[in-house]
Amino acid sequence: MHADQAVVVITGGASGLGLAMAKRFAAGGYITIIIGRNKNKLHHAQAEIGSRVHPYTFDLTRFEEIPQLVKSILDQHQHIDVLINNAGIHLKKPLLETENAAFTEVVHTNLIAPFVLSREVAKQMINQKKGHILFISSMAAQYGIPQVIAYTAAKAGIEGMTRAMAVELSPLGIRVNAIAPGFIETDMSNGALDNDPQRKERVLTRTPMGKLGCPEDVAEAAFFLSSESARYITGEILRVDGGNAIGF
Ligand code: NAI
Repeated sequence: MHADQAVVVITGGASGLGLAMAKRFAAGGYITIIIGRNKNKLHHAQAEIGSRVHPYTFDLTRFEEIPQLVKSILDQHQHIDVLINNAGIHLKKPLLETENAAFTEVVHTNLIAPFVLSREVAKQMINQKKGHILFISSMAAQYGIPQVIAYTAAKAGIEGMTRAMAVELSPLGIRVNAIAPGFIETDMSNGALDNDPQRKERVLTRTPMGKLGCPEDVAEAAFFLSSESARYITGEILRVDGGNAIGF
């Protein structure tokens, strides 16, 4: 292993957008650390992508253990150049049926875990005087989508946190950005759209490009934002949505 090889940490890197990002960064020469709860899925991803991929089985809602997770990554790989906070869960339920426990679980996974992990990784990036922290937001942070209360609250928090972290960390050499994907075909979006043909139709008719995105579309944007080509971009929320947000 070369100490000068760039290291990316991708949460939820064994499926959907995270898997596509893991493939893109590994192909781009990064040592690619993928974090997820399911050991089998992680090892499957490693077998598919190759030896640049290093799986860590970990439930990110175990906040107290995140500092130890970061330490063990650093013990093995010495530095972290890019952190991608991608892991997330979805919840589609009417407001009145959204119980406290379900709301809390979504906020824990989609907002607090990215906060704790970013804080811990930022300590290392500050020592390095460089790094890129990328969050994955959603159109839910930008629209009022019915029946997606908890998820919307968490993703809106992610967009605010992106800006707040960017102003604090950019002077120290660390860029902070987010991608807001539109509707991308993954297990998560299939779960949200397949049982709701009306919603799927609405998504497609208001997306000028007339199709759902694929995980690779988001992976390319993540790779660009993390590259030297994006060196003057920080605090940005980049939509990757086929024009969905400007569709009438
Ligand atoms: P996915 O369900 O395929 O992947 C999410 C991954 O996160 C899974 O591998 C899951 O195991 C992992 N994960 C969830 N909770 C975790 C925890 N506590 N600890 C460790 N890992 C955990 O979903 P998808 O679609 O790839 O979503 C990835 C990100 O993109 C999420 O943040 C999602 O909110 C966001 N997103 C997805 C969109 C889509 O259309 N697919 C649209 C907008 C945002």
